[in-house]
Amino acid sequence: MPVIAVIGAQWGDEGKGKIVDLLAEKANIVARFGGGSNAGHTVVNPQGTFKLRLIPSGIFHTKATCVLGNGLAIDLTAFFEELAMLKESDIHPSNLYISDKAHVIMPYHYILDGLEEEAKGANAIGTTRRGIGPMYVDKVSRLGIRVGDLLDKDVLRSRLEPVLKLKNDIITKVYGDKPLSFDEVYKQYCDFGQRIAPFVREVDSMVIDALDAGELVMLEGAQGALLDIDHGTYPFVTSSSPMIGGACTGLGLSPLRIDHILGIFKAYTTRVGAGPMPTESHEEPGNTLRERGNEYGTNTKRPRRCGWFDAVISRYSAQINGFNHAALTRLDILDTFESIKICTAYKVGDVTYTRPPSLPGLLEKCEPVYIEMPGWNCDITNIKRYEDLPAEAKAYAKKIEELLGCPINLISVGSAREQTIEVSPIL
Ligand code: GDP
Ligand code: IMO
Ligand code: MG
Repeated sequence: MPVIAVIGAQWGDEGKGKIVDLLAEKANIVARFGGGSNAGHTVVNPQGTFKLRLIPSGIFHTKATCVLGNGLAIDLTAFFEELAMLKESDIHPSNLYISDKAHVIMPYHYILDGLEEEAKGANAIGTTRRGIGPMYVDKVSRLGIRVGDLLDKDVLRSRLEPVLKLKNDIITKVYGDKPLSFDEVYKQYCDFGQRIAPFVREVDSMVIDALDAGELVMLEGAQGALLDIDHGTYPFVTSSSPMIGGACTGLGLSPLRIDHILGIFKAYTTRVGAGPMPTESHEEPGNTLRERGNEYGTNTKRPRRCGWFDAVISRYSAQINGFNHAALTRLDILDTFESIKICTAYKVGDVTYTRPPSLPGLLEKCEPVYIEMPGWNCDITNIKRYEDLPAEAKAYAKKIEELLGCPINLISVGSAREQTIEVSPIL
């Protein structure tokens, strides 16, 4: 049985949670491979409406084992809050595991995320302030604390003592803020160690064994390709690799085992946080998209920046991820527009770009070149079959498919699981 990866194709919030919840019915394992509680994945299904940050969106299918891979940034407070939230809806995950190699968000990561953002002033990234950047910095500097370290109090002490001293020096001497108490942090994380122990596994081995047993493994991306630390709109990116490459390193999975790479594309463009966004619209259609689409962050409640579909970044995303499938989500949000635009290229002066330029400051100067298509002006939220979509909606999806260079297998017309049109099967 294959591996299917579900990857955010734009700047995040494309509807990955909804699609994973839908497809996970067939999965034996659903794995997150990167990011942390900076993600906010909304799932609407017969059990209710859920906003997940860490726990995979496959958790509603009792057959699926849900795992958090080594690439994750584990915020233990968020993890236990999420478990409690699920329990309130009578969902008691029994097959939920965390890699011993995943790194842990520590209290100083939260503090430093805030202090660094403040210090950057007008150049702030607009992070979610969940400690993500500082945690990945520590991982790469080999100062990180891993989930496995929490299981042994002596190991934790030996890891934490020198690191906390260093962090307190930075917090007090660079930023003039209050130091953290070793005793308090140590105690809190020893307690976390006890609570997390039943969830800790060698997740990489679990995934390999599942594949060898012929099981279906689904990889749930977080964030989106344009937020990738290497290929995104640097420095306005997250600190991990939300792309397909990150799925391999974040789980210990060979790329040769991944058969299906499904890119999730919102039918227009949104972005939350700072950084260039060529199709951003400050008036119309931006305001209508934000209000009709309730485009406010799942996680931080910040208003999302909105604009027409940007086929330049989207095609680039399809190319660097090698998508062989796509899902087009939130098509229903476009129901009321007389006409709809798609950005097919950028212009700076006389120069035309068909891939996003990466030299500093250039993307900020790019003016979108649009094509215009007629809208459909009717409610599509109850449509179940592709044939029943209005001709204009089909033409819009076809045009996007042509611009992406990869087939659209799914069209989503509402937040609920069943509001999904299968254009052609993926599995
Ligand atoms: P994710 O981070 O990629 O999982 O996406 P988010 O959950 O942050 O944001 C997507 C939002 O759109 C959520 O509120 C979903 O419930 C909702 N959603 C997903 N697909 C559709 C759709 O086709 N139509 C509408 N109207 N809402 C959708
Ligand atoms: P999901 O999985 C949208 C953005 C932040 C900020 C930048 C860096 O729900 O699609 P970070 O806290 O990661 O250091 O912030 O990345 N960002 C997201 N935007 N959806 C997300 O996740 C995001 N995760 C991070 O807004 O611009
Ligand atoms: Mg989200």
